[in-house]
Amino acid sequence: MSEIAKIELEGKSYELPVIEGTEQEKAVDITKLRGMSGFVTLDSGYKNTGSTTSAITFLDGENGILRYRGYPIEQLAEKASFLEVAYLLIYGELPTTAQLAGFKKSITEHTLVHEDMKHFFEAYPSNAHPMGILASMICSLSSFYPDSLTPNRDEAAKNLTIHRLLAKLPTLAAWAYKNSMRHPFNYPHNDHDYVKNFLQMIFELPSQKYEANPVVVSALNKLLILHADHEQNCSASTVRMVGSSHANLYASISAGILALWGPLHGGANQAVIEMLEKIHKDGGDVDKWVAKAKDKDDPFRLMGFGHRVYKNFDPRAIIIKKACDDVLQALNIQDPLLDIAKKLEQYALEDEYFKARNLYPNVDFYSGIIYKAIGIPTEMFTVMFAIGRLPGWIAQWKEMMDNGEPIGRPRQIYTGYTSRDYVSIDKR
Ligand code: SDX
Repeated sequence: MSEIAKIELEGKSYELPVIEGTEQEKAVDITKLRGMSGFVTLDSGYKNTGSTTSAITFLDGENGILRYRGYPIEQLAEKASFLEVAYLLIYGELPTTAQLAGFKKSITEHTLVHEDMKHFFEAYPSNAHPMGILASMICSLSSFYPDSLTPNRDEAAKNLTIHRLLAKLPTLAAWAYKNSMRHPFNYPHNDHDYVKNFLQMIFELPSQKYEANPVVVSALNKLLILHADHEQNCSASTVRMVGSSHANLYASISAGILALWGPLHGGANQAVIEMLEKIHKDGGDVDKWVAKAKDKDDPFRLMGFGHRVYKNFDPRAIIIKKACDDVLQALNIQDPLLDIAKKLEQYALEDEYFKARNLYPNVDFYSGIIYKAIGIPTEMFTVMFAIGRLPGWIAQWKEMMDNGEPIGRPRQIYTGYTSRDYVSIDKR
């Protein structure tokens, strides 16, 4: 017998069903609340509100658990390739050898971007932020593939758009960077794997072939896997919201990129490095900057700390910190920013303000140091996050479409003027 929740409103009692997930999470299903009582619920920022049921990613904020389709990210980061994880998230199971080969082949065949799109890049100033360029380019793909405009037409059309997105995002991201450097664009190398292909498109110069360091390739593969999905975060919820109107998948992913750009979300990895550089330039006085972060009257926040869900530690940060040490050692880099980062992390473990608010390093805290060590410019850090998160966004969109979920349209509580008559301008 399933549980029920009882709620008393204006002297009347109502019963609402309680649903329980496979990990014993429970929710009061309020689908019928307004129809029964006229009441809606209010939860700014949806801190306590589930928007959907999902079988893609499970995270347990109290115990620092993150699993994709039931597989712990620690195992996937250690043993899987990024495309294997992308397949798992999107189609629900780890691919067989044949399935992975077919997936890779299809993606490889779509890495090229229509030559006419190169003109779009030329119109951007060299200091244009690559996240704005990327969002525009991804949305523009729908103009080159009109068959994508009816997203739910058939499985083959849906998969073609999914594979085109996975294939072309790294090419467009690399071209955005090359455009900012006013360097010639590199074309994809179809004999490289996903990560090496991207690194080659970013770093190769006409005069200088790029040989990827295996430690760098392994670290980047881990970073992309660790960023691949995170259930109903801000950008994934944006992708679902836009997709729920049956706008095409390119438009939904473009909206997700724009949501990720924000410094409170994916933009934090760029903000972390900018913060560490500011502290370093200011003489490295960590105590001073921690005091500013604690000061309610000071808008300064410690970027890369805190999380809406993780209340003990972000399991991804632990793996990324290890990869960070490996990359710096392999490239023989002594980065003063890393020393500052480690001092800040010490505060999170010892300082009452941090502990009382569960402010631990999150996924963005160390990733920027790795990207910087690899030679990726700061403004491209959130683009790296987007490349990693793309399969998760696609998986969330596909689940929503496959489940036939309704268009997203939250309610509100109105707090403006009650009815009043128009006043002519001469009487205002
Ligand atoms: C990502 O949702 C996801 O899953 C996101 C993500 C993903 O994979 O998709 O994990 C990726 O976005 C990670 C988060 C990256 N953002 C940052 O690092 C930006 C810095 N962090 C914050 O701004 C903040 O911690 C959030 C946005 C991450 C979470 O904010 P919440 O849950 O809304 O918490 P809050 O803002 O209400 O803060 C609670 C308290 C407040 O103090 P009090 O009012 O209780 O006294 O903690 C304080 C805040 O002032 N606080 C911080 C702080 N973060 C929260 N104080 C100093 N520095 C910080 N970073």
